[in-house]
Amino acid sequence: PDISNLKIAIDGPAGAGKSTVAKELAQRLNIEYIDTGAMYRAVTLKLLDKHVDFSDTDTVVDILNSTEIQFENGRIYLDNKDVTEDIRSALVTANVSKVASIPEVRRILVSLQRKIADCKSVVMEGRDIGTTVLKDADLKIFLTSSVEIRAKRRYEELKRKGVKIEFSEVIEQIKARDLQDETREYSPLKMADDAHLIDASNMSVDEVVCHIIELLK
Ligand code: DC
Repeated sequence: PDISNLKIAIDGPAGAGKSTVAKELAQRLNIEYIDTGAMYRAVTLKLLDKHVDFSDTDTVVDILNSTEIQFENGRIYLDNKDVTEDIRSALVTANVSKVASIPEVRRILVSLQRKIADCKSVVMEGRDIGTTVLKDADLKIFLTSSVEIRAKRRYEELKRKGVKIEFSEVIEQIKARDLQDETREYSPLKMADDAHLIDASNMSVDEVVCHIIELLK
């Protein structure tokens, strides 16, 4: 592969550790990391702020067409405002699946993602990168972990933030989000035929990254 134009796609369900792995991999390879989930979150944040009815497709499209999303130094900017923390709020998290299931939203963001990845090397992380956004990626990874391990990670994260929630409830939330991501009509979460499946349930971040680098070789 052309190392000045290397495309690595990392897909998988919520909480599998994709972001940590993708960030670390991009850093080791000294190439750009693009978090497409953050883009769906940024759009969701804007639509919520403007109190837009998600089923009003015309308004949603109008807003998207006048929206700027940029990545810089690990931060995400929505219309030139740093929203890196805001896009992780519980409200955005609760609504993002709905926004990500709107075909027009996906069409616009996919085209933006392709533009961002154009003419440079990237590690791009999401749900449909290997199947849709970068179909010709040099390496496709489908990273997964058991529901219990993903729920445990999410539970620890929420506890750290001071959120009071039962572990069983986190399991239910993860299952619900998996189902919504896997069954949406347009571009569902699905492993590409030519992707490498990595079950990270019993692997450290370093082990996963090393494994990907071996596959790359
Ligand atoms: O990875 P994340 O939790 O930040 O993703 C947020 C939401 O966006 C999640 O519901 C899945 C969706 N998403 C998507 O549909 N396609 C992508 N390429 C990335 C994320």
